[in-house]
Amino acid sequence: MKKNICLLPGDGIGPEIVSEAVKVLHGIEKKFHHTFMMTEALIGGSAIDATGVPLPEATIAACKASDAVFMGAVGGPKWDTIDPAIRPERGLLGIRATLGLFANLRPATLFPELSGSCLLREDTSAKGLDLIVVRELTGGIYFGKPSGTEVRNGLRTGFNTMIYNEEEIARIAHTAFQTAQKRRKKVCSVDKANVLAVSRVWREVVTEISRQYPDVELSHLYVDNASMQLVRDPSQFDVILTGNLFGDILSDEAAVITGSIGMLPSASLGLPGTPGLFEPIHGSAPDIAGQSKANPIATILSAAMMLRLGLNMDAEADAVEQAVHKTLQEGFRTGDIMSEGMTLLNTVQMGDKIAENL
Ligand code: IPM
Ligand code: MG
Repeated sequence: MKKNICLLPGDGIGPEIVSEAVKVLHGIEKKFHHTFMMTEALIGGSAIDATGVPLPEATIAACKASDAVFMGAVGGPKWDTIDPAIRPERGLLGIRATLGLFANLRPATLFPELSGSCLLREDTSAKGLDLIVVRELTGGIYFGKPSGTEVRNGLRTGFNTMIYNEEEIARIAHTAFQTAQKRRKKVCSVDKANVLAVSRVWREVVTEISRQYPDVELSHLYVDNASMQLVRDPSQFDVILTGNLFGDILSDEAAVITGSIGMLPSASLGLPGTPGLFEPIHGSAPDIAGQSKANPIATILSAAMMLRLGLNMDAEADAVEQAVHKTLQEGFRTGDIMSEGMTLLNTVQMGDKIAENL
């Protein structure tokens, strides 16, 4: 098959980790006789440096013309003092909105090979950790209007609006229930319905949609309780369905308790027929950029998600995931997941090993 992939390496370690995933994708081309036409486009800080804006028109056009978009990471201290309207993060939010990528899937799993690095107590981690956060990505307080800063009664004042309509809630709820049907058939919807009006509508709509999925068990948690339950006993969760802001926070929490944020991939999907965007959960790690220290596995596993969910290539996705597991089983590690008796590899060597193990 011939597929167009738009690469957005971005900032910091972005270009290094994307290169390693591209190496693995080339391996898949060979093994499965596909042709991936890969074009590169600018996003984030590197786009600001080159063009003055974090999401140039040319990047939007390249993404729209692709079958899937594959991103590294954006942001860094260099652009921290820039006009907020053109911060690197605006590039990412902009491409999510432009492509209508309303469904953000963030799996957090404890790799058996890395169970020792889990941050939780052993009796807790022994119960397992295999969940997926389904986060609404193009609405909520991230995009709600009005928003801004102004002087009110002589005081500098900032404001945002957390807003969801029933359509936005229903479509992400469908994603969550359908995701659960392919897993352990449990959805936990997370909101703040004891305080927020927007959450009361959220809960009402999610409950209505759940009637179309009688095989899936639905529960509800307030976000404060959910964040606590996640460290107390993550094994209770299968699919966590939540809005944009709560999902941003809970997905970081879910990722880090596995002890290996450098391992976790993500997918952002829109309506059928629009390209999805695939990227590691972690950020641009400017402190280790350019030193070949970054762990490319989250990015390589994001390539697996792209193959499975973006390009409909299940066997190819399986092959990538198996190559990652094999490499870990052989004892190869990057610095972030290093432990005694293992072999330390740099970014490029890890990419090589995984490609070799395909
Ligand atoms: C994420 C990130 C982004 C977000 C930032 C970089 C805009 O934290 O993908 O979780 O807040 O959505
Ligand atoms: Mg985040």
